[in-house]
Amino acid sequence: MCGIVGYIGEREAFPVIIKGLQRLEYRGYDSAGVALYNDGKINLCKTKGKVADLKAKAEQEVVLGGKIGIGHTRWATHGEPNDVNAHPHYSNSGDLVIIHNGIIENYASIKEALIARGYHFESDTDTEVLVNLIEDIKKNEKVKLGKAVQIALNQVVGAYAIAVFDRTKPDEIVVAKLGSPLAIGVGDNEYFIASDASPFIEYTNNAIYLEDEQMAVIKKGRDVKVRQVKGDKVVNPYVQELKLNIEQIEKGGYDHFMLKEIYEQPEAIKDTYRGRLRINDGIIKMAGIEDNLQKFLNANRIIIVACGTSWHAGLVAEYIIEELVRIPVEVEYASEFRYRNPVINKNDVVIAISQSGETADTLAAIKLSKEKGAFVFGVCNVVGSSIARETHAGAYTHAGPEIGVASTKAFTTQITVLTLMALKLAQEKGQISRSDFYNYLSELEAIPEKVEQTLKSDANVAAIADIYKDAENCLYLGRGYNFPVALEGALKLKEISYIHAEGYPAAEMKHGPIALIDEQMPVVVIATRKGHYDKVVSNVQEIKSRKGKIIGVVTEGDKEVRGLADHVIEIPETSEILTPLVTTIPLQLLSYHIAVMRDCNVDQPRNLAKSVTVE
Ligand code: F6R
Repeated sequence: MCGIVGYIGEREAFPVIIKGLQRLEYRGYDSAGVALYNDGKINLCKTKGKVADLKAKAEQEVVLGGKIGIGHTRWATHGEPNDVNAHPHYSNSGDLVIIHNGIIENYASIKEALIARGYHFESDTDTEVLVNLIEDIKKNEKVKLGKAVQIALNQVVGAYAIAVFDRTKPDEIVVAKLGSPLAIGVGDNEYFIASDASPFIEYTNNAIYLEDEQMAVIKKGRDVKVRQVKGDKVVNPYVQELKLNIEQIEKGGYDHFMLKEIYEQPEAIKDTYRGRLRINDGIIKMAGIEDNLQKFLNANRIIIVACGTSWHAGLVAEYIIEELVRIPVEVEYASEFRYRNPVINKNDVVIAISQSGETADTLAAIKLSKEKGAFVFGVCNVVGSSIARETHAGAYTHAGPEIGVASTKAFTTQITVLTLMALKLAQEKGQISRSDFYNYLSELEAIPEKVEQTLKSDANVAAIADIYKDAENCLYLGRGYNFPVALEGALKLKEISYIHAEGYPAAEMKHGPIALIDEQMPVVVIATRKGHYDKVVSNVQEIKSRKGKIIGVVTEGDKEVRGLADHVIEIPETSEILTPLVTTIPLQLLSYHIAVMRDCNVDQPRNLAKSVTVE
């Protein structure tokens, strides 16, 4: 969703901001803008479209010099994506300029009051209302910008990460955060502001992550002053040293981030179990579990909350945890859970899964669970993210930055962490034999190699993609552990290639989707040897009799499905519970190649955002 970048220091702000906005493109957006202070004036340029369009337009239309500035990529919420609604927004006097990520829910009543006081509005946005509210307070209360921002934020309801500066006092930027992320890069006599660290990591490794309801006044050459938005408490900012490096957020020779991230999976899975999976000692080390072991062992049930791909990882976890640990598990869409008055109590353990750690619905589900007394455990990829901070304990996936909007390595590393958790709990509960435990550990350790081997099917998958790239619909079927993989395969295809796709448990086909099957319909069937193989073979036969086109994902050496399918993709054998870590790979590649062949924007599919910070 919206991306925020700001700069104050000795460099030219424009190139820093444009590059920063390009680094945030993965978040998803439909328009972009920049405002730069130069010689008593604010030069502002904004446009519908991409950051490249903004750069070209700005180079033609505005003075680009200036050592303080802010930039924004907008994912439309209030008002259609167009030049006028794009950020930054001026206040009526033209002195203040703001960028905003989030939603001001009570903007309509504030706008009405401001109109009654003579303010006018050019855009349909809630953001223009906020900047004028700040201006109104600044004028009437005769306070400094920081104070005006604070008073204004106490009047608004909603979510925000904002950066605002004043033409008449161009040596400071005021920022604040609630619900949407905001990081401040601390350089040498310079500061960077961004939605995450990627825009400033090439300049500094030091960052301050604002907490919810904190604001900061950032002045050139001075320490950052952080305070609570509510009350007057001053906060000592914690400057964190980041481990991220620039190579991790660049494409490294791949055509797309998605492809790079698909290929990074062997390493990402290894990074995720490294230090935790200790075969020689016959143990799994996970501090977050060990410190809270009794909470898990005494849990009446585990409730998993997540959205999208992370929800699919949750479904895989449900199967694994129930199989190995024998604690009942429910998997909930966070967006439904938070609004349906669910029964939660203090003997429940809630596991929240999120790559970004910023998904608004998942965050709200966590807050609700905490209010009801449940213990909440986070599985996140982004270190220091809101969900990582909001949960009682957690375990990071160590996937590294995932930039492609379609989740790939986040999914497999989430499953890796959740499998480790399940094995650890099963051992602690005395639910698993030593030999089974040991076998699973060695199978898990071998997964990166098997993923590597599966990636070698890339050319075969690309050839299959070429045959089906013009399909209008596609079905994905799988049973057991491969059912969530079928859902995930269908999600990947629809989100990046815009082909309508559905995932189903294979046996459910007879209860409806079978009516769709004809000679035009590609059906991807995940038919691994371990995993109700005979039943799935029967399903394949049913598709064959209706002339559907069968793409089988099979275990190497398979004969039966090969004899029936139009195409097969072979994967190496592994234990049943670990199968999703391998079967998902060819489905990621299939959607990737189809999207490329259809000329789709693979890394930034239309309408989608990487980090969904609004509900
Ligand atoms: C799909 C995808 C989304 C996310 C979902 C949750 O490829 O990326 O469905 O999985 O928006 O995001 P996180 O995991 O960041 O909470």
